[in-house]
Amino acid sequence: MAGGEEFELETGELPAERIAPPQSFMEQANVTPAQLQRFTEEGVDAWEMAGDLLTWDEPYRTVFDEDAGDWFPDGQLNAAANCLDRHLADRKNQRALVWEGQLGETRTETYLELSRKVNAFAAGLRDLGVEAGDVVTLHMPVIPELVVAMLACARIGAVHAVVFAGFSAEALATRMAESESAYLVVSDGYYRRGDAVSLTNRAETVRAGLDQEVTTVVVDRLDDRHQYSLGDRDHRYEELLAAHSGETVDPVTRAATDELFLIYTSGTTGKPKRVTHTTGGYLAHTAWTSHAVLDIEPSDTYLCTADIGWITGHSYIVYGPLALGATVLLREGEADQTPKTKLWELVEKHAVDILYTSPTAIRTFMKWGEEYPAESDLSSLRLLGTVGEPINPEVWRWLYEQIGNEECPVVDTWWQTETGGHLITTIPGVDEMQPGTAGPPLPGVEATVVDETGTDVDPNTGGYLAIETPWPGMPRELSTETRWAETSDVLPDSEWAYMTGDGAVMVEDEYVTILGRVDDVINVGGRRYGTLELESIIIGVEDVAEAAVVSGHEDHGQGIYAYANPAAGADETAVRAAINRAIEQQIGSFARPDRIVLTPELPKTSSGKIMRRLLTDIARGNDLGDTSALRNPEVVGEIDSATNSD
Ligand code: PRX
Repeated sequence: MAGGEEFELETGELPAERIAPPQSFMEQANVTPAQLQRFTEEGVDAWEMAGDLLTWDEPYRTVFDEDAGDWFPDGQLNAAANCLDRHLADRKNQRALVWEGQLGETRTETYLELSRKVNAFAAGLRDLGVEAGDVVTLHMPVIPELVVAMLACARIGAVHAVVFAGFSAEALATRMAESESAYLVVSDGYYRRGDAVSLTNRAETVRAGLDQEVTTVVVDRLDDRHQYSLGDRDHRYEELLAAHSGETVDPVTRAATDELFLIYTSGTTGKPKRVTHTTGGYLAHTAWTSHAVLDIEPSDTYLCTADIGWITGHSYIVYGPLALGATVLLREGEADQTPKTKLWELVEKHAVDILYTSPTAIRTFMKWGEEYPAESDLSSLRLLGTVGEPINPEVWRWLYEQIGNEECPVVDTWWQTETGGHLITTIPGVDEMQPGTAGPPLPGVEATVVDETGTDVDPNTGGYLAIETPWPGMPRELSTETRWAETSDVLPDSEWAYMTGDGAVMVEDEYVTILGRVDDVINVGGRRYGTLELESIIIGVEDVAEAAVVSGHEDHGQGIYAYANPAAGADETAVRAAINRAIEQQIGSFARPDRIVLTPELPKTSSGKIMRRLLTDIARGNDLGDTSALRNPEVVGEIDSATNSD
């Protein structure tokens, strides 16, 4: 594990208290302990319960092919047909999507309406030349057109690659180059906290940096003041849809192991890491966990505050909930946008049953005060979920008490872009909850915590979290190589293992408390950044010799701390501005450091390695311990005061 030698394993504070799920919830929960017993009795074949939530064109006979690492290998299906067509008989007039835009707009799409649009857009994409297996890049905020585009791709067997709208043109181009994508569906811009961000001529910029020719479809999101001028290979979404209105496109049958989509995440290598999810295994996993963990029923109105540009939105805004036929409330913009009453007004207005959000957002709500949620009637809520980072017990309790009125179970779901869906969480009507602790691995999943040598550590001891059993939502990269080459040089003794990159503590009955990333990835505000990627951008700035990026303390409301070593005599203001500009250009403004500390030297070990762990402690205001073994211990005090002054 790169950086592993700097990481001292810690044991978190383990709150012992456990809370039983509310009785009223247990009585109606989607899954019962008796059903889950199948995992104990049947092993891997019990995942049939997940496969059976889907409609197959060609039913699978094998649940998991151990040799190939393939799930439902002989099954065939279409993901869009599972999310739309099969619901039309029973609930074509039920709302599939209710969209709340940043400017206060509301739009709804029934299953029938959504299905018509998806058919028309699928026909449009075909008309532009898109075929099964082609990669179509989607670059938009959370608007219904993004869901239409994803499902239209899935319908014709094309592979979508959604790139979060906040990424820069350069980051978009890098991803399109990597996937050799020749199609781009992009909005003319998006709103961020009420301000318009124009993506004017983004296709132009992208084209300039790519070898392949790119055909672009532009979705109109902004008002007329922000015109997107079309080039020769550009089309307007509305026109394309109108031209194909009323057409139907038969869903293309896909093998379960065929790609459904690509998504890029931050890895440890300094380059975006491609993760490929499959049509059958991924969809079964997300449908199953939406059913068993989020307890979604077709009659529910469900709200997840994530952006569709990240994995949470793919799995638990689009694929899982729509596969189950629920009503999905789409919300454009950040979870914690003002007015401070907004989210709660939406919960009341739409009688939301299930709310899935991030600890960061809840921390903000908690800081704002309980008077804001108290203004709305939240009694429609049945279940609350969190994802993306550890949730501290006080924040968990605030959510449980102030939002859920102690009547809604809280599921703290641990998973990753790579896992596709939940892997460690309580099952809400079955398991006791432990504030601050995600819970046990899902039934059917085994996890372990190991030390640097790959040996299981004792219960209650910190170590590296590994997953030891394959799961249906595992990405193609894992099924072919079994062990993700990049993951680690720490490997458990077991036959198969996926190293998660997280540190964790597990107790005897397997409840897992996540301690956070232990590789060269940092997690800030529930978002993931590669430290090497950020550092190499910073080092690329003129007058910067060395750099180290670490994550500061979330509770202090600060995230990315960049330490850089400028050349003697460099103008510090100019260097800071240049660092910000470089990150903005190469990734996007969302990845700008919260704090840039310029220092004549970075702390080094005796072998000359930058001591990131010490910088992390400084950024978090932790006790620094004995630093005398450093090559340059004299810099520590200086860096500490530069970080923690003002
Ligand atoms: O560190 C873990 C943290 O988020 C990382 C995965 O980030 P990403 O791939 O962007 O996916 C985020 C949404 C699934 C993990 O390695 N993480 C995710 N969920 C939790 C968590 N940390 C603690 N508790 C969680 N529930």
